Amino acid sequence: MAEPGQIPNPWPEMTDIATLEQETLRQIAEAADEAALEAVRLAALGKKGAISALLATLGKMSPEERKTEGARINLLKDKATEALAARRAELAKEALERRLAAETLDVTLPTATSPLTRGRIHPISQVMEELSVIFADMGFAVAEGPDIESDDFNFTKLNFPEGHPAREMQDTFFLTPEAGEKKLLRTHTSPVQVRTMIAQKPPIRVICPGRVYRCDFDQTHTPMFHQVEGLVIDETTHMGHLKWVLEEFLKNFFEVKGVRLRMRPSFFPFTEPSMEVDVQCRRQGGEIRFGEGEDWMEILGCGMVHPNVLRNCGIDPDVHQGFAFGVGIDRLAMLKYGMSDLRAFFDADTRWLEHYGFRPLDFPTLAGGLSA
Ligand code: DAH
Repeated sequence: MAEPGQIPNPWPEMTDIATLEQETLRQIAEAADEAALEAVRLAALGKKGAISALLATLGKMSPEERKTEGARINLLKDKATEALAARRAELAKEALERRLAAETLDVTLPTATSPLTRGRIHPISQVMEELSVIFADMGFAVAEGPDIESDDFNFTKLNFPEGHPAREMQDTFFLTPEAGEKKLLRTHTSPVQVRTMIAQKPPIRVICPGRVYRCDFDQTHTPMFHQVEGLVIDETTHMGHLKWVLEEFLKNFFEVKGVRLRMRPSFFPFTEPSMEVDVQCRRQGGEIRFGEGEDWMEILGCGMVHPNVLRNCGIDPDVHQGFAFGVGIDRLAMLKYGMSDLRAFFDADTRWLEHYGFRPLDFPTLAGGLSA
């Protein structure tokens, strides 16, 4: 009887060693997998295998016969063992090759999109970055202040008289007073001028980008928006410098060869004289081009810092002077990148961001192009 898993000896009568050898080697060569090979091994060399059975016959032989037959049978056993090992190695190699072929990976296939490739930088962040790069090149540092500001820094130190209508003009969000001090959401970035002048000695050269708040809401106004303030204080800075800085800024920002500016007299409590600046442009089919055309567009407010503001911040106006300017960042973004509705900036609609946003690793540089 065959043992379980062992196939019965197919050659019970086979005593012809040459035929047995031929048959065993053929079966080994034809074994298609490890299991078939193991079955052949058991049939030949297992306890009840054909070759084992031949070896068992040696005991009954005469010594002379054993000598010759023993050598032949052992040679057969060695050949079968060797052939089994060789076939086993061959099968293992074939199995490995099959696995390698099945598990190949096409490294040229596109990778799955990662958050890094899908994520977008918001146009406001992009424009703030562009402004920082432009002004850093002209030697300006970046200064910041809190969104919740005191009435004193937002208005009083900036030379807004007590009860002056300009305080109401800015549609201020007032907060509940804290320890008797009037608090509000800053209506402009100008209080950061005050903070900077109190904290630093001239020469001062900073830009102050940040969020500002006013109670207003339509296509071009949202209750929270962004401004950047510029401030230069030293002993000699004058309006000529102001004009040059603004020209450099607008030319680099709009990525054109040159811009023409027009300054109109205006009023801000914190500057004297105060001006509004228009930039030359061409309006064409809903598009605006800068650095050419016959039209003018109002773009920012500026002036020479009022002596009262300098005094309020501990700076002697008989020694020091300088200029300040304030620009709406959102409006700059709308003009440069062609969005028409400010409200969409804050809707958190990923389709809008997909369209208008910027790739996270494309940092703006003056040399490489700001918005390339
Ligand atoms: N703070 C002004 C506003 O919010 C903008 C501004 C105008 C800032 C003139 C300035 C300036 O520094 O000189 O409307």
